[in-house]
Amino acid sequence: MARVFNFSAGPAVLPEAVLVQAAQEMLDYGGTGTSVMEMSHRSKTFIDIHARAESDLRELLAIPKNYKVLFMHGGAAGQFGIIPMNLLGGLNANEARADYVNTGQWSKKAISEAKKFCKVNVAASSEDQNFTYAPVQSTWKLDPNAAYVHYTSNETIGGVEFNWIPETGAVPLVVDASSHILSRPLDVSRFGLIYAGAQKNIGPAGMAIVIVRDDLLGNAMPITPEVFNYKVQAEADSMINTPSTYSIYMAGLVFQWLKKQGGVAAMEKVNIAKAKLIYDYLDQSEFYQSPVNREDRSRMNVPFRLRSEALDGAFLKESKAAGLIELKGHRSVGGMRASIYNAMPVEGVQALVAFMRDFEKRQG
Ligand SMILES: Cc1ncc(COP(=O)(O)O)c(C=O)c1O
Repeated sequence: MARVFNFSAGPAVLPEAVLVQAAQEMLDYGGTGTSVMEMSHRSKTFIDIHARAESDLRELLAIPKNYKVLFMHGGAAGQFGIIPMNLLGGLNANEARADYVNTGQWSKKAISEAKKFCKVNVAASSEDQNFTYAPVQSTWKLDPNAAYVHYTSNETIGGVEFNWIPETGAVPLVVDASSHILSRPLDVSRFGLIYAGAQKNIGPAGMAIVIVRDDLLGNAMPITPEVFNYKVQAEADSMINTPSTYSIYMAGLVFQWLKKQGGVAAMEKVNIAKAKLIYDYLDQSEFYQSPVNREDRSRMNVPFRLRSEALDGAFLKESKAAGLIELKGHRSVGGMRASIYNAMPVEGVQALVAFMRDFEKRQG
């Protein structure tokens, strides 16, 4: 059976070489006679898999020594509540406040979860223009007494990406980097905490990776469950309970693959080229339209509309028949969305643009 080009926003395409290796190792990992899925998380074999995944991630993102890397349960949305629980513990309920920047559906969800734990100051928002841009820093109204500042550096649904890192002085900066982590180099030292759900650029869904600065550990609210307590998990190498062993293994294979591609700087070049192919085509076309402010367009998630909504059904049906799947935009935005993560080969984007050109010619 032929593989298709999968433009899903997540769970998303994984590198084919990684899937092939996982398939080869499924029944017998490294001569152990068992699958990684069947292996004790306390076994030396798995501890080595885990340690290598962490050290490869550290190398890929040049993570400084004073940051912990945690592999956690509950996806990125789990972190929406886990973050306030861990960062606000030293404060009483009336004092606890945090700044949030509202740039789309994922920021909104993070905000509504945070409101269960603290007072939220929405420091900036792009809701006035239907979340089609990243508010420039000069418009942010930060609270100097906030425990942290949270933003979403790539809005997966709206296709808005920050190509700059906000400046928050002594207040720790927290970022949801779920949908573009590892797609470009990142100066980790600018952040207090970086988190990402795995199912876009890392591996299987359900796991979140958290990169947290040491000084932010140990401030958890007493109600924080042990499995969601950063300090407890850091001290236990993310194994206070049984971790998502197979997800960690798959993430490790993706990290090895990324290193073979030349790391995140090399990946960024490819991602720029892929994004340029599709945006250049959109910009010269009168049939398709990109709703996002040019400077803030995501390299990973490309929403676009057809000249008429009435053509959406035909576009989706025909693109699927051509082996290009999951192009339907999120219901809150409408139209189409092509997610072109690290694992989407340039041939996939070329095939998409060729299909779009052909569709335009036939309908336009
Ligand atoms: C930016 C962003 N944050 C959070 C999430 C939620 O992730 P999860 O479903 O792993 O909880 C997503 C999911 O697509 C996302 O794109």
